[in-house]
Amino acid sequence: MSYDHILTHTDGRVGIAQINRPKALNALNADVMMELMTALEAFNADEAIGCLIITGNERAFAAGADIKAMAEATPVSMLNSPMIDQWDRLQKITKPVIAAVSGYALGGGCELAMACDMIIASESAQFGQPEINLGVMPGAGGTQRMTRAVGKALAMEIVLNGRFLSAHEAQHYGLVNRVVPVELYLDEAIKLGQQIAERAPVAVRLAKEAINAVFETNLQSGLSLERRLFYMLFATVDQKEGMDAFINKRPPDWKGE
Ligand code: CAA
Repeated sequence: MSYDHILTHTDGRVGIAQINRPKALNALNADVMMELMTALEAFNADEAIGCLIITGNERAFAAGADIKAMAEATPVSMLNSPMIDQWDRLQKITKPVIAAVSGYALGGGCELAMACDMIIASESAQFGQPEINLGVMPGAGGTQRMTRAVGKALAMEIVLNGRFLSAHEAQHYGLVNRVVPVELYLDEAIKLGQQIAERAPVAVRLAKEAINAVFETNLQSGLSLERRLFYMLFATVDQKEGMDAFINKRPPDWKGE
């Protein structure tokens, strides 16, 4: 499938979707978001792919929702726009999704990165929710995911006062997994993606589901879900394979079944 606003390619078992509006610092409009989600869903459905990456370019992961496209919007046009609903499609992706972030990850761009499962950042990455400077506030998860990631006090500063987090600050506060030199951020994300993509696929999928349940439920329900998913894995071929491989001191050969 060909796209107008994104580029896609694969590297082994990793599917990579790159936002490609460099002149607008990868600002996210409805077309970009729909193409991005369509590409991710295609990778998600492809058995040859085990892990997904969303990236931008060195200067910008994405500098936010497209302000020019929103400037004349009304509440009803925003309600009817398919734009922000696209973030919900990301939540339905069952394979791990890594954001490989360099440069600006602002507003909707920061919200997109935070909606991924992991973030690899370049040293130049900057995370922020500067919507307050436009007379609005985050609308695609910024108040919720930023607060869960960095805590209430800092989230207030980021959202209410437009404070940016450097890559190292973002790592310090637990928003990103690791920070690497600019020239390595995509390679590092692909390396992590390859490692995860080589693991037992059903176990990876259910483990992702269990971790994400932390944000949706209380501890007792989360523990109960975890236990049911754990027991369920004993019905898989890969559980027998993984334990037999350990006992017989050989590498496992995962079947994804
Ligand atoms: N929407 C539309 N266009 C954007 C954009 C955005 N979010 N961010 C940058 N651009 C465009 C600029 O308009 C400019 O285009 P022109 O050359 O045609 O003028 C081009 O990208 C380059 O940008 P700058 O010249 O501004 O580059 P800079 O290096 O001086 O500044 C920046 C970079 C600090 C990121 C600055 O562009 C900026 O502040 N951008 C806006 C960031 C922002 O407010 N994001 C939140 C958007 S609202 C949102 O996301 C809502 C939500 O929660 C869903």
